[in-house]
Amino acid sequence: MTKTTESWGTRVGLILAMAGNAVGFGNFLRFPVQAVQNGGGTFIIPYLVSFLLMGIPLLFVEWSIGRYGGNRGFHSTPFMMQSLDKRKVWKYVGVFGIFSNIGIASYYTFMESWTLSYLVHSVKGTFTGMSQEGVVDVFNSYVALDQATLFPLESLAFFVFVLALNVFILSKGLSGGVEKVAKIGMPLLIGFGIVLAIRAITLKSGVDGAVNGGSVGLNFLWTPQFDSMWNPKVWFAAAGQMFFTLSLGMGSIHAYSSYLKKKDDIALNAMSAGWMNEFVEVVLGGAIIIPISIGYLGVDRVVELAGQGGLGMGFKTLPYLFAQWGPWLSVVAGFMWFGLLFFAGITSSLAMGVPVMGFLTDEFKWSRLKSSIVFGVIILFLGLPTVLFFNQGVFDEYDYWTGTFSLFVFAALEVILFSWFFGMDKGWKEINAGADIKVSIIFKYLLKYVTPPILIIVFIGAIITPEGNDWTGAIHSLLSGNGWIFDSGSLVGKIMNSGLYDQLAKATSPEEISSIKEKILLTNLSRILLLALFVAISLVVRKAYRRHKKEGRGF
Ligand code: ALA
Repeated sequence: MTKTTESWGTRVGLILAMAGNAVGFGNFLRFPVQAVQNGGGTFIIPYLVSFLLMGIPLLFVEWSIGRYGGNRGFHSTPFMMQSLDKRKVWKYVGVFGIFSNIGIASYYTFMESWTLSYLVHSVKGTFTGMSQEGVVDVFNSYVALDQATLFPLESLAFFVFVLALNVFILSKGLSGGVEKVAKIGMPLLIGFGIVLAIRAITLKSGVDGAVNGGSVGLNFLWTPQFDSMWNPKVWFAAAGQMFFTLSLGMGSIHAYSSYLKKKDDIALNAMSAGWMNEFVEVVLGGAIIIPISIGYLGVDRVVELAGQGGLGMGFKTLPYLFAQWGPWLSVVAGFMWFGLLFFAGITSSLAMGVPVMGFLTDEFKWSRLKSSIVFGVIILFLGLPTVLFFNQGVFDEYDYWTGTFSLFVFAALEVILFSWFFGMDKGWKEINAGADIKVSIIFKYLLKYVTPPILIIVFIGAIITPEGNDWTGAIHSLLSGNGWIFDSGSLVGKIMNSGLYDQLAKATSPEEISSIKEKILLTNLSRILLLALFVAISLVVRKAYRRHKKEGRGF
């Protein structure tokens, strides 16, 4: 068994680090945009049901697998998976838990660098006096290295700086680095969030240039519309958001809990971190961007902006809206908003480094410093295409395959492994070992009979989503012999690049045609790169497995 010198300093530190792992851009940027894109109030019910039927059960599973594997000397998912069942294939399933972290960190740290840069610009007053279009232009040129006129190469410099900062903190270890950042960052983030949320919901129409009061945005978000409840698209979006925000199916929860002792509680810890994430997402995440943006821009414009693709919205709107609050308040608000986002980002990106470092130290006996530097170099190499070709769709491509697709696949397979192969009786004992709360027996049955089929249904639905999400129409078309037409957002449509080919068919000017062709090329190249990454990790895992067998270790 590998001896580890890593451990968490305190229980509060562990919970804050785990909550920091979960609380990220998903809470403040992705959640509001997903909610708007899916009809506001319509989104909330599938979202909450997903939390109860998939989120909480999977939190128990991931914390349990992590502690179980950690006590057998494994701090990343490949061999944790195999320690639950002897079949060799499980270690390759566990590859997802390294792959996703590397893939997500490659674009996530880039976003993290935007927050720091925007914090500096807010304090410098760069956005003062700009029009809203001007602020949108700043963002568009910031992420387009070839067109960057205002801050040439700035995005690259900030990316490298933020990456180096992550490497430095990771090299200090769990209690000396990750936990310290969480203990400072999480309270600050929540404090900043509360101040901004209060300001947002007390916005008054006609004051400081606002056209709507804060309640207009809140009503938009919170008025349930039951009619779209039967639209599978809304369910996919809600389940996907649940995975991303809780960091489920990523492998980072497993890695964090692998440093727990056999009898340490996981049930209460998992609930505390999970509910803290939900508070930050639903209460704070839902009360900042939407009420302020709708307060100034109105519902229609905000729906339009959300439709243009999500994660940049907080950068394209808020600096302009804050500027309406006068010189002082705009600096304070900008500092709080981008500071909050920075802490949300860094506490999550650190969590993406821990499983990778755990694997490298377990398998190669590398020092913390060496493992953290290797992690940084890998992210630099894989992150550069997202920085250099952001507008060509590389960033979104990484997000889809590593931040959505992989999470579903891994979560579905791990819950099947845990409930059916490891066995739910043993699994239930694991969840309850050392538990400081009584976990309702309902979760035992959910984990065995409800969560796996829901995950599979959601996943199949995402693979074959019909054009326009019109399931009834698609079934009729199939039955009448006209075949099944896939939506460009379905997995099949994605693989075929149908959205881009549709654009190509409609394009008229030579510039437009060559730009779409360039996008198709770069999209395909990024997929090849990600596939090569998965294969490379699998080969390393296979090599490590052979060594395990030779040395008679593990399993
Ligand atoms: N859970 C992290 C987030 O929400 C990845 O951003």
